[in-house]
Amino acid sequence: MIKKILSVILVLVVTGGICALVHNIRVVLRNKKELGRFTQKTVYTAKPGKTLVIYYSMTGKTKDIAERIAAITKADVYRIETLEELKSSPSLYTGVRKDLKNRNYPALKGDMPDFSGYDTIFVGAPVWWYTMATPLYAFLEKADFKGRKVIPFSTQGSNAGTFAEDFTANARNAETGIYEKFNNVGPEYDEAVNNKITDWINRIYE
Ligand SMILES: Cc1cc2nc3c(=O)[nH]c(=O)nc-3n(C[C@H](O)[C@H](O)[C@H](O)COP(=O)(O)O)c2cc1C
Repeated sequence: MIKKILSVILVLVVTGGICALVHNIRVVLRNKKELGRFTQKTVYTAKPGKTLVIYYSMTGKTKDIAERIAAITKADVYRIETLEELKSSPSLYTGVRKDLKNRNYPALKGDMPDFSGYDTIFVGAPVWWYTMATPLYAFLEKADFKGRKVIPFSTQGSNAGTFAEDFTANARNAETGIYEKFNNVGPEYDEAVNNKITDWINRIYE
């Protein structure tokens, strides 16, 4: 009996491992194909006016994209911070899942930014459980973007889920522009990611 149970567990573990490996290979190939379109240096032509980049980032990926956008558009930057710093752990994953279900979002640090005077506001965050990270939900609960052009962006492992739709549904009074998503990739794609950002911003202002 014990032998049988152990065999079943072994089969499950091996199957899970193979599925994960196949998934990872598919993601790597998809990233290569997508970013392969951005190997040519892209000239920045957009005129977004006075720009603000707002972002939340727990492990630095969204911060990296936000800073690249800010460097290209010469924007001011506002970082969304939680009162209690969130750290990656297995319990964070389960906690966040529950919090999203119960619409229970973390308290934020500091004052809200003043949106007046900005022509364009980029807003970015990681994807958590196929939607926006809870600190962005918390931020949007307090924000009113009346009269502002707002451009959402996300970073994620490979599946952005309903981030864009959820952003539009929760960004009060925003005139939402073209959303863009950025999968986590290595430094070998640094130039391609810059070109992708430039191409995206150019398209917003075509
Ligand atoms: C709680 C949690 C849930 C996540 N859910 C997803 C997901 O649904 N889809 C995905 O592709 N990546 C998911 N990720 C990975 C992050 O979206 C990704 O690593 C992101 O770029 C991290 O951004 P940051 O470094 O700015 O915090 C999740 C990460 C965490 C911590």
